[in-house]
Amino acid sequence: MPGGIDCHVHLCQDLKTGPLGLGGECADNFETGSRSAVCGGTTTMITFATQTRAEEDCSLLKVVEAYNARAEVTGSYIDYAFHVIIVRDDKDVLEAELPILVERWGITSCKLFMTYETMRLQDYQLLDVMLAALKNEITTMIHAENGDMIEWLTGEFPKKLESKAMMAPYYHALSRPPSVEGEAANRAIVLAELIENPILFVHVGSSASANVIRAAQTRGLPVFAETCPQYLNLTWEDLKRFHSPTCFENSKMVCSPPPGPDSSDQAALYIGLHNGTFTIFSSDHCPFKYDDPHGKMAGILEHEPSIQGEPCEGMTLPELAHKKVGSFRLIPNGIPGVETRLPLLFTRGVSTGRISPQKFVELTATNPAKLYGLYPRKGAILPGSDADLVIWHPEGGLPPFKLTNEHLHHNVDYTPYEGMEFDNWPRYTIARGRVVWGNGVLLGKPRDGQYLKRGPSQLGKGVAHFKKDPRRVASWVHEL
Ligand code: URP
Ligand code: ZN
Ligand code: ZN
Repeated sequence: MPGGIDCHVHLCQDLKTGPLGLGGECADNFETGSRSAVCGGTTTMITFATQTRAEEDCSLLKVVEAYNARAEVTGSYIDYAFHVIIVRDDKDVLEAELPILVERWGITSCKLFMTYETMRLQDYQLLDVMLAALKNEITTMIHAENGDMIEWLTGEFPKKLESKAMMAPYYHALSRPPSVEGEAANRAIVLAELIENPILFVHVGSSASANVIRAAQTRGLPVFAETCPQYLNLTWEDLKRFHSPTCFENSKMVCSPPPGPDSSDQAALYIGLHNGTFTIFSSDHCPFKYDDPHGKMAGILEHEPSIQGEPCEGMTLPELAHKKVGSFRLIPNGIPGVETRLPLLFTRGVSTGRISPQKFVELTATNPAKLYGLYPRKGAILPGSDADLVIWHPEGGLPPFKLTNEHLHHNVDYTPYEGMEFDNWPRYTIARGRVVWGNGVLLGKPRDGQYLKRGPSQLGKGVAHFKKDPRRVASWVHEL
């Protein structure tokens, strides 16, 4: 197959005010993250240059330059490109800089947040940025969760989670029931429809959200969606696995949106992979170490003397947990998975017959290339395309084995898929014609990868509606 393309990877991401913030520290840089990727059959990745609300981050160009410098420190084993995360709606900046981002950097996608106090845009701001993106043929990616609902469920008013001391990692899921995602997805669709802006929903985790996306697609709207391994392989049960006041183990599974309550969401998401609701399948690799005060333990150790007004220094983890000095809201959100993305979907999707091998390639390589303006250089086996290839073991060629974190090449001390059985794994990864991973041995080098300038999305063209429909407001909105 063509080399895997993972277009949702967090590396070297500034954490102070970002959605990964709350004290968390991104465990992978470009070297370790791309090393992990290539050992799992991925030859291209797109990572996030992140604007913050800090005044010095007002310029998106400066944000991208600073982020690029971080990539150049180590280099990358695989080819890479950037999305930009936009958290402000400075109209002059958008107008002046978006064309330069496209022209100079080939950055043709931006991600917008509907949750996280330090990241979210209000509805009118979403419209501002979407319109600016549309004018520059930049694809808008949406993190759809209703931030107000989450805050209301979490906060300290009577009857909410924290006031009842329901602060263990498991309650992260209860603070984000599927309707939180479904409401936000629906709202983003309505906003995008107003100006006829193509959008892509990242990390869709629930059937509530998949259903509104499917309905929008059926109405002919250019709405695309991504789902990720965690939503097909984890449930609320995994967040509950070691549920006790003294165990913080489940913080390993904390990501946003959380996986669905039970396997019925997984079944719905598999149908969505099969029937085209989902355009792409990415990892949302967001690496935090577990046993590290700047990783998942930030949820307990770093912040919380204030909750009970007592100092927590010198206390052991169980003591802290017992005193409930900590909260799911302080756990950095995100889980690692860049290396397991392809083998997991192969084992659980292709080997079981849930999706075809062709669909597998479409979701993990060809569609990502088309959606993000890399096709046909990437995502295809064609004359003129880069010779990025993955060769799997033939049927029965690799006896099933249980995964442990020691198999993996990221800089994270755990995998959420510890102990899961795999029946295949990329045998060879070939990047631009060279074998960089073969029979379990890493053969590439950290400076093999090149930065990729991208063109506009090759999906989302054409609209299935009547131009004269009076409900179609975009025609006159664009005149204003
Ligand atoms: O929990 C998650 N998904 N963390 C990564 C940041 C994001 O929103 O993609
Ligand atoms: Zn997100
Ligand atoms: Zn993400």
